[in-house]
Amino acid sequence: MTMEFKGKAVLVTGGASGIGYATADQFAAKGADVVIADVNQAGLTEAAAKLSAQHGRTVHAVVCDASDADSCTNLVNEAVRLLGKLDILCNIAGILANGPTENFADETWLKVLSVNLNGPFFLSKRALPHLLETQGCIVNVASTAGLVGVPYGAAYSASKSGVIGLTKAMAAEYSRKGVRVNAICPGHVITPMTSKGGDFGPDTDMDLIYKLFPLTQRGSEPSEMADAIIFLAGAVNATGTILTVDGGQTAI
Ligand SMILES: NC(=O)c1ccc[n+]([C@@H]2O[C@H](COP(=O)([O-])OP(=O)(O)OC[C@H]3O[C@@H](n4cnc5c(N)ncnc54)[C@H](O)[C@@H]3O)[C@@H](O)[C@H]2O)c1
Repeated sequence: MTMEFKGKAVLVTGGASGIGYATADQFAAKGADVVIADVNQAGLTEAAAKLSAQHGRTVHAVVCDASDADSCTNLVNEAVRLLGKLDILCNIAGILANGPTENFADETWLKVLSVNLNGPFFLSKRALPHLLETQGCIVNVASTAGLVGVPYGAAYSASKSGVIGLTKAMAAEYSRKGVRVNAICPGHVITPMTSKGGDFGPDTDMDLIYKLFPLTQRGSEPSEMADAIIFLAGAVNATGTILTVDGGQTAI
C-alpha cells in the first residue's frame, strides 16, 4: 500500500475547514501537490496560506461552489492547470441541516442534496477523464447518517446514502478501467459543522451523545478522518469500500 504521495496531484474540496483541511494537511505532509477548494473564500485563502507555510511549498486554493456545475468545471480545469494532472479527488465539502421532516423547508432539502450529493457527482464526472489518464482514485466523505436513520436528519441522511450509492456505482463502473472509488463514513467529528450547534443544540448532554461512540466516548478529531481518507487513497486493492470510522457507533 502506498502511503507516500510524492508527485501525486490531489484535489480536496471543503479544504478551508475541518476534515478537508486535515486531509489537505496530511497529503501535503506526505509529499503530494495539493489544491484545496471551498465556497468560503476568506477561509480558503487563510487555510492555503497556513498549509503553504507549514509545508514549505504552495498549497493552491480555488474558490468553488460544489453545488454549481459550472463552478465544478472551472475547479477541475484549474486544478489540472495548476498541478499538470489529477491523481486523487477527495469530495469532502458538505453542509448539515436538521429539523422535523414535516416542517423541513423545500429549499433547505434542495440545498443539502445539491451540495452533498450533486457536488460529488459534478466533480467526479469532470475529474474522471483525468483520473482515467493517471489511473487515479476518488475518496468521498459520506456519513454514518447515510447508513442508519438519524432523527430530524432526513435531508442529510438521504444525501449521504446517495453518496454511498454514487461511490459504489462508480466503483463498479470504473473497476475494469483502473479508477478506484471509495468512501468513508465518519460518526461525530468535532469541526465547525458540529460545534456551531448544527448537529446538537447548546443544551445537549454531550456525555450522553458520546455513549453512542463506545470505542472513543468522545467526538472524533478531523485528523482521524484524514487518516482513513489517506488509507483509501493508497489502498490499491480497494474499490467500492464504504469505511466506517465512527468510534464503534454502527458496531452495536
Ligand atoms: N463533522 C462531523 O461530525 C461529520 C460526520 C459525518 C460526515 N461529515 C462530513 O464531512 C465533510 C466535512 O465536514 P466537516 O465536519 O469538516 O465540516 P466543516 O464545516 O468544518 O467543513 C465543510 C467545508 O465545506 C465547505 N462547503 C460548504 N458548502 C460548500 C459548497 N457549496 N461548495 C464548496 N465548499 C462548501 C465549507 O465552507 C467548509 O469549509 C462533510 O461532507 C460532512 O457532511 C462530517
